[in-house]
Amino acid sequence: MRMVIKIAGALLERDEDVQTLARQITELARAGHELLVVHGGGRIFTATLTRMGITSRFINGLRVTDRETRDAAVMVFGGLLNKRLAGAISLAGQPAVGISASDAACFLAEPMQLDDSATSLGFVGYLTEVNVDFLRSLWREGIVPVASCMGLGADGELYNINADHMAAAAAEFIHADRLIFLTDVAGVLDGEKVLRAVRGAEIEDLIRRNKISGGMILKLEAAKRALAGGVSEVRIVGGTQRRALLAAAGGARCPGTRVLPVLRTAARAAHGAAQ
Ligand SMILES: Nc1ncnc2c1ncn2[C@@H]1O[C@H](COP(=O)(O)OP(=O)(O)OP(=O)(O)O)[C@@H](O)[C@H]1O
Ligand SMILES: [Mg+2]
Repeated sequence: MRMVIKIAGALLERDEDVQTLARQITELARAGHELLVVHGGGRIFTATLTRMGITSRFINGLRVTDRETRDAAVMVFGGLLNKRLAGAISLAGQPAVGISASDAACFLAEPMQLDDSATSLGFVGYLTEVNVDFLRSLWREGIVPVASCMGLGADGELYNINADHMAAAAAEFIHADRLIFLTDVAGVLDGEKVLRAVRGAEIEDLIRRNKISGGMILKLEAAKRALAGGVSEVRIVGGTQRRALLAAAGGARCPGTRVLPVLRTAARAAHGAAQ
């Protein structure tokens, strides 16, 4: 099976978590799965920016990224975190390489424009292309690609891509069978309760009732996009739970939340109504 595994920045903070995940990734790769690991930066990045005296600002959950912030993103995402994760997987027994947009132009991006043209997100992009041949050459050699969430623009600049957007779009481009989001909560929560499954309209309803906010909104949007783009299975799972990744990569019984595609009939009705 071809899988994209998105790992939250928060799960890269503790060595223990990184090693537990690395062992599970190794197990999946050894079982013959073609994996693309994508990671975020979260609090580690924000803390680095604070040390550098840069204040973080978000618009619609996306980090406003000026040149200085972008340069720091390259250092933290493409350097520290990327190498930490690739190193842990390699030490767990499966060779892994940390790759960033520029390497073999593996992830291309275009700048993201906001509806309000007066406001700019700076160096924030969205994924427009993946060098699948390059990934295939790594898989053929049994190497796990570990990608930081950046894209290379036609202007030669690197663009910061929200890691969930990146994972979902990459899953679509590489025709992944499954997209697994490993996050720092047990799944999509409705209050205290972990929802076993969520579907289109229900997601909108939860957002409207303020039950879902922040990064989880972006994640669910990304999940919906991946499903619409042909990825058949999307799961959101707590990454610190024991063997969570193996369970999420396995059969029907899955910890956390499955994001289900919009029902065909409902989609047709909505389409009809829009005409
Ligand atoms: N209903 C909800 N269920 C679960 N989490 C929610 C919900 N509403 C808001 N959240 C928040 O969303 C967060 C997950 O998104 P966040 O962007 O912080 O992490 P991530 O996307 O997994 O990692 P990264 O941003 O580092 O790539 C949770 O930690 C939680 O605080
Ligand atoms: Mg996030």
